[in-house]
Amino acid sequence: MNESTFPGTQHHDQHQYVTPSTEPMSPAPEPRYAPSTEPDRTAHHDPEPSTTPQEPPATADPSQQRPIIPNNYAEMPRPTAKLTAEDMAPVNDPHGPRHKIGPTGRPLPDLPEVLPPTRRGPAQVIAMCNQKGGVGKTTTTINLGAAIAETGRKVLLIDFDPQGSASIGLGVQPHDLELSVYNLLMQRDIRPDEVIRPTKVENLDLLPANIDLSAAEVQLVQEVAREYTLQRVLEPLIPHYDVILIDCAPSLGLLTVNALTASHGIVVPLECEFFALRGLAMLTDTIAKVQDRLNPKLEIVGILGTMFDGRTTHAREVLDRVVQAFDERVFHTVIRRTVKFPETTVVGEPITTYAPSSQAATQYRDLAKEVLARCPAG
Ligand SMILES: Nc1ncnc2c1ncn2[C@@H]1O[C@H](COP(=O)(O)OP(=O)(O)OP(=O)(O)O)[C@@H](O)[C@H]1O
Ligand SMILES: [Mg+2]
Repeated sequence: MNESTFPGTQHHDQHQYVTPSTEPMSPAPEPRYAPSTEPDRTAHHDPEPSTTPQEPPATADPSQQRPIIPNNYAEMPRPTAKLTAEDMAPVNDPHGPRHKIGPTGRPLPDLPEVLPPTRRGPAQVIAMCNQKGGVGKTTTTINLGAAIAETGRKVLLIDFDPQGSASIGLGVQPHDLELSVYNLLMQRDIRPDEVIRPTKVENLDLLPANIDLSAAEVQLVQEVAREYTLQRVLEPLIPHYDVILIDCAPSLGLLTVNALTASHGIVVPLECEFFALRGLAMLTDTIAKVQDRLNPKLEIVGILGTMFDGRTTHAREVLDRVVQAFDERVFHTVIRRTVKFPETTVVGEPITTYAPSSQAATQYRDLAKEVLARCPAG
């Protein structure tokens, strides 16, 4: 297996959705992402070796060329920044000294205070996307959404994962749902307001999902303009929200392609451990394909280090490597590992209300500042 450049570029995953098409009633291919009847929380869709010829790069622009990620830990460069415990301490602390080196090895910027919105909508649509499982997509969707809602912006969270984790994380039991995002996708006579529900958090609404959504992945394959189905559902909602966040499933199947087609931006949560780097190339390939063929306005808003443990050099090395590869697209804010997040799932509310003054809540508020600075809404 030749992975000397960027793991994932050499192979095509059988689960990867590679031939988006808008042709009317194109012959239904075998679904490439076969949904299981049981939710798979550990799904890790790494590429399979393949002998198929490679596609030419999406762009010849050298600035767009893919960064090199080493294939094994021994090849990892040592961090460029020498960080002391004191350097790490003020990260995300609004009262701490600024212009210190942050956990990404770069000086921390002064993030502008977020002002209340001056108008309602049109919404910025942002997908949380990474085909690796358990990297913090759902945790980020819920807590970033809640942190943005705190600023007075109206936020809609779309649970776009048949596991229904975002719904559970906001206190909604997926098996109790009569209507879910599945009905909106597949039945034109269902109105969004029949499915969207408020949450306990002011300004935060939820479009819930359950296991029904896995059927949509198969059924949509037969549809005309199947990649645009979610975009069509969202269109009437755009004027009523400032930010719409989509919690994607851990796959690059048709549902995720729908989410990317409907979005202006992508946030890629990335667990700060070495194996998280694998598969990033496949994700950036899919993003490039969606940009080329379906949604030219799609941009990577940022890459977010999650489950960061500053006590380990490993986490810092991984972050350093990601910064070398993706540079300013990596958020300065990182989310540290804390048991508070699993606890919030149990109580069914975001960290910003469960532990409002915790470091974890502050981190998501900082992330909200960075996201709003990169793609202003309201
Ligand atoms: N910063 C963190 N510190 C500790 N635990 C975390 C952190 N972020 C998320 N977790 C926990 O890790 C687990 C996976 O997180 P999460 O569900 O957000 O990932 P995901 O990418 O959405 O997973 P999936 O791919 O299955 O949808 C959850 O139990 C969550 O509570
Ligand atoms: Mg999830």
